[in-house]
Parts: sequence; C-alpha cells; structure tokens
Amino acid sequence: MSILNETYELEGGVLIPKIALGTWQISTPQAVHPTEFALKNGYIHIDTAHGYANAKGIREGIKASRVKREDIFITSKVRGESKTYNEAMSDIHDQLEDLDTDYLDLMLIHCPTPWRFFNHKPTRPHFYKENIEVWRAMSEAKEQGLIRTLGVSNFNVDDLEHLIEATGVKPAVNQIRFSIGHTQPEIVAFCQENGILVEAYSSLGTGSLLKNEDIQKIADKYNKTVAQVAYRYPVQKGMVILPKSVHDKYILENADIDFEIEAEDMAFLDSLDL
Ligand SMILES: NC(=O)c1ccc[n+]([C@@H]2O[C@H](COP(=O)([O-])OP(=O)(O)OC[C@H]3O[C@@H](n4cnc5c(N)ncnc54)[C@H](OP(=O)(O)O)[C@@H]3O)[C@@H](O)[C@H]2O)c1
Repeated sequence: MSILNETYELEGGVLIPKIALGTWQISTPQAVHPTEFALKNGYIHIDTAHGYANAKGIREGIKASRVKREDIFITSKVRGESKTYNEAMSDIHDQLEDLDTDYLDLMLIHCPTPWRFFNHKPTRPHFYKENIEVWRAMSEAKEQGLIRTLGVSNFNVDDLEHLIEATGVKPAVNQIRFSIGHTQPEIVAFCQENGILVEAYSSLGTGSLLKNEDIQKIADKYNKTVAQVAYRYPVQKGMVILPKSVHDKYILENADIDFEIEAEDMAFLDSLDL
C-alpha cells in the first residue's frame, strides 16, 4: 500500500490520511490545477483554511478530478481573527458554501490568537475564553453533521490545557510548524501524551531546508531528494504531513516517500538545530 492511502485513526473512528496537499499561498485560480492533479494521482486529503481564500479553486479542482466527495478528506480552519461564536459559525458556513460540500472532515481553530498577536513567547496575550466560544460553535456544527472532527492549530501547551479543562474534550489534532531542526519538543510531547495527533506544517521550512548540506547527505544515502527526507521525517514521528506545491513534478515527488530512514539517521536529523 502506498503511503498516500495510509491513515491514522481519530476519535469516533474517523480515518485521517497521513499526507494532505497543502494549499497555503495558492490563490483561487492557482488552486484548481494542483488540486485536480493531486487527486488524480492518489492524494485523498486536502488542507485549506478560510484564511487561504482559495476554497472556490479547490472546489473546481475536486470537480475536475471526478473523485467522489466521500473519497476525499477535507481539512479547513476557522480564521485566527474569528474569536466569537458568530464569527466562527460564519467561517464554517462560508467554507461549506465555497467548497460546495455538505460537510468538512476536519475543522481547526487556525491560531490561538488573532494573527497580529501570535508568537510563542510566554508574554503574548491569551484568548482562552474566546477560543472556548469558537470551540462551542465548532462543536455545534459537529452535532449538526457539518463537521466530522475538531482540532486546533498553532496551540501551545497552555492554550491546549485551558481548552481541554474548559470543554472536557481533547482536540483530535494540533497542526504546528514542525520540520527537521525545528521540532517544538514541548508541544509535541504534550500532544503525544494526550492522544492529540500532530500535523507537521512547513516541513521544508517553506523551502529553506532545500539547500541544507547535512540533509542532502542523508538524501544521497537513500537515493532520495532533500524534500523527500524532510517530508518522511515527520511521518516517522507519527505525524500527518502537508506538502504544498503548484508543480506536478513536486506533487508526485513529495508523496513518493515509501522508504524508511534508519534510526541512526533519524537521530542525526534530530540533532540538527536549524
Ligand atoms: N496551520 C498553519 O498555521 C499553517 C502554516 C503554514 C502552513 N500550513 C499548511 O502546511 C502546508 C505546507 O507548508 P508550506 O506551504 O509552508 O510549505 P513547505 O511544505 O514547507 O514548502 C513548500 C514550498 O516548497 C516548494 N516545494 C514543495 N515541494 C518541493 C520539492 N519537492 N522540491 C523543491 N521545492 C518544493 C513549494 O514551491 P512550489 O509550490 O513553487 O513548488 C513551496 O514554496 C501549507 O500549504 C498549509 O496547508 C499551515
């Protein structure tokens, strides 16, 4: 079985494919072709967000691929700026309409703060109460059958602890920046101890890892590219990956990662601080 068909099991038995096509920084017209091409070539998971403003392009790509809706896993996100019940509900309905779908497989709170406040410093402002309101809207939408699973993104341990304590529910996933040399160990450990699946974004450092000579040496050993090693690394940590490309060649390359990085090479990659 290709890794494109491999899944993790979330609460309620929902199966989430290990690889999603990332779609950040792809405009609506630009989104049509990569979505169609990825789906025609075995991808079954698309990662978008209200904030990416490309849902109508993804919709057209899905239609053009002729893959059935029920065979695709769609993740979207409530905007970081939406911190009230009404704003969150409005984002959910916008995404359903723009994607022309009756349900979303996974909906995330995109950011624990409005983006202008976001960083990982302990001094940054908190929006614990507001996130509970967003969660309430998402939970209602789930009860109405509009969303299958709920999660978060960019949450620190304290953001997660407050949400879990207030709602009694653990988010199914936390989508965070995770790449070789940028591994956020405290958040990852908390998620793994609490059964929260980690989704790794920007595994190429949005392109910055591609010229790294240390990773190139490992890639040469396996006859793979730096990108393939960088995407394989989080998969071997039990994470979902979200490779983004508008190029057919890279969309194929990024999913051709059915190989195993040996333990000593994983340890070497773990030791890199980039
Ligand atoms: N939750 C969040 O806050 C958040 C934040 C960032 C990202 N994300 C999600 O994670 C996805 C991935 O993150 P990212 O967009 O930062 O990207 P990334 O995976 O780190 O890197 C993508 C960049 O590398 C290029 N690329 C892709 N495959 C390549 C390959 N095999 N060889 C050479 N270059 C390659 C792409 O360019 P071309 O397109 O020109 O090929 C793109 O510029 C996003 O699209 C989004 O879905 C979520």
